[in-house]
Amino acid sequence: MTATAVDLRTLDHAHLLHPQHHPADHADPLIFARGEGALLWTVDGKRYIDGLSGLWNVNVGHGRRELADAAQRQMTDLAFTSAYVGSSNPPAIELAARVARLAGPTLNTIFFTTGGAESNETAFKAAWFFWSMQGKPEKRKIISRALGYHGVTMGAGSATGLPVFWKHFGPQPPGFSHIPNLDPDALEAQIVAEGPDTVAAFIGEPVQGAGGVIPPPADYWPRVREICSKYDVLLIADEVITGFGRTGRWFALEHWGVEADMVSFAKGITSGYMPLGGVIISDRIRHVLYEQPATTKFMHAFTYSGHATCCAVGLANLDILEGEGLVERGAALGEQLQAGIAPLADHPAVKEVRGLGMMVAVEFQPGVAAPAGQMGAKVIRACRQRGLFTRFREDIVMLAPPLVIRESELDEVTTTLREAVAEVAG
Ligand SMILES: Cc1ncc(COP(=O)(O)O)c(C=O)c1O
Repeated sequence: MTATAVDLRTLDHAHLLHPQHHPADHADPLIFARGEGALLWTVDGKRYIDGLSGLWNVNVGHGRRELADAAQRQMTDLAFTSAYVGSSNPPAIELAARVARLAGPTLNTIFFTTGGAESNETAFKAAWFFWSMQGKPEKRKIISRALGYHGVTMGAGSATGLPVFWKHFGPQPPGFSHIPNLDPDALEAQIVAEGPDTVAAFIGEPVQGAGGVIPPPADYWPRVREICSKYDVLLIADEVITGFGRTGRWFALEHWGVEADMVSFAKGITSGYMPLGGVIISDRIRHVLYEQPATTKFMHAFTYSGHATCCAVGLANLDILEGEGLVERGAALGEQLQAGIAPLADHPAVKEVRGLGMMVAVEFQPGVAAPAGQMGAKVIRACRQRGLFTRFREDIVMLAPPLVIRESELDEVTTTLREAVAEVAG
């Protein structure tokens, strides 16, 4: 390691508390200094392929000058101004209109946030407000799924279906419950058990991401839509990972022809170049929010809602996604990625290989090549030694490379993963 790298690591250990921190997991952090396309370089100059597009977000790849230029232009003109009711700014207006055009026909109104958890908090509060305004304040419960990830703030974290995120942080706010992840009948049973008059919304990721890249059966989302409509429960699609091209569509629910009542987004809207997220709200919900007397306002707000610079970068990012046909490219590359990992399905240590578009996972059989829960870490270590950087959860290794990755680099990703599995599991 160079002197600079050693100094940075010392300062990092001394002063930075990282997301999901434990010192044992941070003994030898990679300190990235530069990126281009699907590639990253550490401060030591070591090259890695970014196997997860940062954190599932850098869809247009690293080092995009256009996005830096858009930020510079907007910051020079006007970096920030309040978007609280009574004022607005051109990039926020234009981006809201553009996202509405990309979303389904009844999804036309956008509330901007700065990330995924804030978006889901906003969706829950919009659902509560919506029901309260219609004389149903008791419709408050939120149903979500096992293995779902919706962020870690109090509401979003309570919807997250991975108990490791709740432990030590209780008590949870009331009214959140979890059902098995791929069973629409379980949703109907839960709504009936809770009492439909008490359930505000159901939230789910079209393809579960951080839980382990879990695509649903073909009839799952149409059935969920049917059940939510039958019991007048709002359907919130958490498209924070799946939005903006990740699965080969602008939004993943398009795969199944389903329209949600609200869509949470973040990550891919700016490809991570600026923190930005939001919720797209259906015309039905908008109508209720907008038709209240002057004394009844939707008292929900963030300083950075509609941040001019973040929205300007969002617009430039959509220019790239559209101009370079990256959503379609994501669909084609997704097939290459899935074909590249498919041979692993025959390995005795592998339980399942799965994915949709440019998000895939290899799940290992617990206890075959490593004690249960430890295989992901081992494979990731072997990948990292070979210059592939990605993430795991327990026995699941996940991949979601940038939509601009070269075909040769994508081959390198899948070859590296196969070699890493061979090293760890024979
Ligand atoms: C589906 C989904 N929803 C919400 C979030 C939370 O987003 P953030 O970390 O920006 O709060 C994530 C983050 O990975 C996510 O994958």
